[in-house]
Amino acid sequence: MGDETLTVTDNRTGRRYEVPIRDGAIAATDLQKITSDGPGSGLLSYDPAFLNTASCRSAITFIDGERSILRYRGYPVEELAERSSFLEVAYLLIHGELPDPTQHRQWVDAITHHTLLHENIKKLIDTFHHDAHPMGILVGTVGALSTFYPDAKDIFNEESRRLQILRLIAKMPTLAAFAARHAVGMPYAYPDNDLSYAGNFLNMMWKATELKYEPSPVLERALDVLLILHADHEQNCSTNVMRAVGSSHADPFSATAAAAAALYGPLHGGANEQVLRMLKEIGSVSKIPEYVKRVRSGELRLMGFGHRVYKNYDPRAQIIKKVADDVLAVTGRSPLLDIALELERVALADDYFIKHRLYPNVDFYSGIIYAAIGFPVEMFPVLFAIGRTPGWLAQWQEGLLDPEQKIARPRQVYTGPAERHLPGVRAEAISR
Ligand code: CMC
Repeated sequence: MGDETLTVTDNRTGRRYEVPIRDGAIAATDLQKITSDGPGSGLLSYDPAFLNTASCRSAITFIDGERSILRYRGYPVEELAERSSFLEVAYLLIHGELPDPTQHRQWVDAITHHTLLHENIKKLIDTFHHDAHPMGILVGTVGALSTFYPDAKDIFNEESRRLQILRLIAKMPTLAAFAARHAVGMPYAYPDNDLSYAGNFLNMMWKATELKYEPSPVLERALDVLLILHADHEQNCSTNVMRAVGSSHADPFSATAAAAAALYGPLHGGANEQVLRMLKEIGSVSKIPEYVKRVRSGELRLMGFGHRVYKNYDPRAQIIKKVADDVLAVTGRSPLLDIALELERVALADDYFIKHRLYPNVDFYSGIIYAAIGFPVEMFPVLFAIGRTPGWLAQWQEGLLDPEQKIARPRQVYTGPAERHLPGVRAEAISR
């Protein structure tokens, strides 16, 4: 037993137990030895939504919610957002270190050369209804990719994993842009290998009849920074899904589809879409007090506010606010930004928000930037998914290679009926 322990007295039996503490945590399985009624009656820990349960050890992302710290592999997100590119960050998350110049060239080159989709995926996208939500198309098509790459099942082969990681990071923007163009009936624009990751995505979104699409450097950089800010966020809902599905040894395309489905929900990656709808619903600065009153009464939630982990401010929201200024200087000021700024001011001074420690999160301003760049609101969660893909993959791989991990299978506290029988069946007649 290590130096640090927890002594527990079970008041049901009077017995005392010593439980080791490792890295600030006790192992929930150590509670099993605390029994009241023989084998099988070991104590469980009850923690719906994992509010205070670590589901893994991870060396990828560090968050301190009280001090508003977010670091990828030790590097503060502020430094990465200012000085690196999304693909460098993706490399860092997957490999643990930033790439040297040769590694960087090879990594960017490999991703650039995996951006094309099999033409049958294009046909699959064609079959979706004209008003299909692009996130639904993304979830469906990224899952479908697993059938195009059966080699992806070879998850304990390092070379195969490397290839699937490249494919996924490379193809997500293509799937996303094709889904967006399907909605408006535009012909699909193929990737342009001369452009950066973000620049090519803008190309696939908006290239029309011009021979060469030239992205605005400001918008290209803003998009790259937004992708960096979304790249990983330790054990959030979708990452937890990625790890859980990965723990059954499903291939990474299937696991990514499941993670993207988790991200789709309005409490997670769907929140940025809801923020924009909310700002439009509020409509003008004069309507804010009335709206906040409805939030205070419990009728509504203020979308883009609050976070499970950050209880002071979300460091990503601070960076995004600066990016919004750069973008709006190019695209023109949005009346929605005025509403958002005033809403933030009113909310931060309001007792309800102070008491509940609710601050703007990453989604509060990201939607305004996406809208200013020209993305339809339905694309907002899709953009989040593109950014989060390297994080999902890094976490998937880490879980897979962790000798302490097993198939995810939580326990439950059963609250249903005790044994009972169908009419006409006597308990003693049942052979067991
Ligand atoms: N507006 C109004 N009240 C809120 C909000 C909000 N946005 N968020 C939390 N509360 C209240 C909630 O009603 C509860 O009050 P009470 O204790 O009086 O019943 C209290 O704060 C605690 O809420 P909770 O739901 O137990 O907190 P949580 O940690 O489970 O939820 C959250 C975190 C992000 C789901 C939640 O704050 C929320 O729904 N926010 C709005 C949606 C949103 O912006 N999501 C994006 C999150 S950041 C990006 C991402 O992770 O995808």
